[in-house]
Amino acid sequence: MTIETSNMSSHEPDLAEDEKRANSETIHPTLSPALALLAPILSNSSTTFASYSSQIYFQKDQTLRAPEITPNLAKIESSARSRLPKEAYNYAAGGAGLESTVKANREAFNHWRILPKMLHSVLPERNLSRKIFGRYIPAPIASLSNAESDVLAVMAPIGVQTLFHPTGERAMAKVFGEMGLPYTLSTASSTGFKDVATANGDGNPRWYQLYWPTVDGLTQSYLKSARENGYEVLVVTVDTWELAWRPRDLETGYFPFIQSIGTQIGLEDKYAHSQLGFDPLAEGATLEQRKLASLYHVVTTSRGVSPRWENLKKLRDWWGDGPIVLKGIQSPEDALLAVKFGMDGIIVSNHGGRQVDGAVGSLTCLPPIVDAVKGKLTIGFDGGIRCGADIFKALALGADFVQLGRPMLWGLAHDGEKGARHVLKSLLADFDLTVGLSGHQDLSTVDRTAVVCPP
Ligand SMILES: Cc1cc2nc3c(=O)[nH]c(=O)nc-3n(C[C@H](O)[C@H](O)[C@H](O)COP(=O)(O)O)c2cc1C
Repeated sequence: MTIETSNMSSHEPDLAEDEKRANSETIHPTLSPALALLAPILSNSSTTFASYSSQIYFQKDQTLRAPEITPNLAKIESSARSRLPKEAYNYAAGGAGLESTVKANREAFNHWRILPKMLHSVLPERNLSRKIFGRYIPAPIASLSNAESDVLAVMAPIGVQTLFHPTGERAMAKVFGEMGLPYTLSTASSTGFKDVATANGDGNPRWYQLYWPTVDGLTQSYLKSARENGYEVLVVTVDTWELAWRPRDLETGYFPFIQSIGTQIGLEDKYAHSQLGFDPLAEGATLEQRKLASLYHVVTTSRGVSPRWENLKKLRDWWGDGPIVLKGIQSPEDALLAVKFGMDGIIVSNHGGRQVDGAVGSLTCLPPIVDAVKGKLTIGFDGGIRCGADIFKALALGADFVQLGRPMLWGLAHDGEKGARHVLKSLLADFDLTVGLSGHQDLSTVDRTAVVCPP
């Protein structure tokens, strides 16, 4: 095996303690310069995202064990599928209608190809950081050459994560906290504000995604809880004020919220208790009360009443100066309205093809939106990201950050925290390698000249 450079070692191994010991015993730092070059590899002390691949190779070399969870990002969904109850898998994999927009999201990525550039000065420790919403974020992985590293990948708000593993949101929030990457808590979460904040860890970046209730008192109460628990950015999802026609769930009549899964934010809310006249989580509360409270949460957050631009002013008053981001924007016209109404950011997203079947692939929407509003607000993107090349393409087309969606759920389905961490690290390693091998030392040159759209 050819050892290329010192970035081939790893910064945060998943190796068992005895394996780590076995590795460290092979190191002698006072050996020759050539062997010193190998030390970071053998000691798992490298500090780059990319080094996750060498960690896997060396683990096999040392222990004869291939990774337990596939690092093949094309296989992670089918691997998760075999572990999940059919309904949970379908709930996540499915989309609206004929699922043509789920497919369009992927096809949009295939239209764009990366144009690699050679013989540029590229070093092992690339700077993949970016400042989002002015927040200093401790180096996500101690490794990055820029100690003031910020962030480029965010966990997409995804509800009901306990469907995929009992540790659900706690596990996911912990993994994102470890990496210093923002975790976004959904209003459809199966875990409450406080428990997720605790799992995520003090000082880590946390965002809150609002399904905007039709009852103002409830909205104010959710925003208050978010702030009190350290959620700094408000993501307002504007495309899901009613659930679309989702045949996979309809076929089996599957709606987890009726079973009080994904309603914890409402169940814990004091204002909701005052409206209901009872606390569904109090000792002695009945199952019937819990169900009623869950339904109250569902109907107030997706009752079929669309939010309106004019009402954003109320959210601004209630949320204060903190950043507000609209998630679900697909047209330059709406992006311009977001600027007009004083929003700090938008997320170009079609909810992973789960809302408007027949809608255009999300990546196709990105360039015209970037042309209309770049520099006026922060632009996030999601929809169909499955590998490092996809992250690269979205950033090259002008996104300031991307959100990771379904692949993280597939990871979670593999032993919770362990699988989520593995998928996140695999995506980041693949991305880091793609940036470097395409000729970029940092993200400043990853722009539209870095991709082409063949006829
Ligand atoms: C199972 C599942 C649950 C989701 N729950 C939410 C949610 O609660 N709030 C929200 O804004 N978006 C939600 N989304 C949409 C994601 O935030 C994101 O837009 C989408 O997953 C991106 O598409 P991708 O996963 O195919 O990359 C959900 C998506 C899935 C697959």
